[in-house]
Amino acid sequence: MGSFIDLHSHILPGLDEGARSTEESVAMAKAFSSSGFSSVVATPHVITGLYPNKPQAIQEGVEAVAQAFETEGIPLKLLPGAEYYWDFEFFKMMENDQLLTINGNGRYVLVEFPFLSIPRGIEEVAFKMGMKGIKPLLAHPERNGDIIKDFRKALDLEKWGFYLHVDLLSLCGVHGPDVKKTAELLIKNNAFHAAAADCHSLTQTQEALAGGIQRLKKIVGDNGVEKLLHTNPLAFIEGNLPE
Ligand SMILES: [Fe+2]
Repeated sequence: MGSFIDLHSHILPGLDEGARSTEESVAMAKAFSSSGFSSVVATPHVITGLYPNKPQAIQEGVEAVAQAFETEGIPLKLLPGAEYYWDFEFFKMMENDQLLTINGNGRYVLVEFPFLSIPRGIEEVAFKMGMKGIKPLLAHPERNGDIIKDFRKALDLEKWGFYLHVDLLSLCGVHGPDVKKTAELLIKNNAFHAAAADCHSLTQTQEALAGGIQRLKKIVGDNGVEKLLHTNPLAFIEGNLPE
């Protein structure tokens, strides 16, 4: 089995409601490393009016925290990324080529929808992204109200070029029984291209990496875990996921 890669984490301190200090980032990194992870993509929130994080600030955060990992002797590679809230400011940044893509490779961008419903007009935005050679990786569709009501709505998103990832924490039941059930239904329908921790603290990291991976393994077996936590995430960070 290849080493695991996490595509979605709030491991950088000071940029959102994730890690509260460099010490907590270091503790989270130790947990990732001892659970078989070789790389983590740092994806602070980018939300208009709340977390207006710019690529340069994220890049600087990654460099500082990666230095702390090295000083502590933790063999975990930290890569740049961001989790964009699907709002008007995001569309503008996309049109002006200002997005920080996963590992800065210009191919995939991590996005999240509002929790209540699937936004209108996603086809048009996804089409415009496609024209720029970028595809959206949608975080935790199992937590969206419309998708909880009808999981097939998540499968429809693939037609518009979306990739989907499940939160390991959803599988632990952290977000409630409906989210857990929706996540499991989507896994059984082969909807996901990756699984990710989406952890905001050391406690969440420990929970996602123990209970989350264990639950995932029960549903998809070793080969499924390899695909969702190694093979596909590697292709996302290298920018060469098969179409
Ligand atoms: Fe997140």
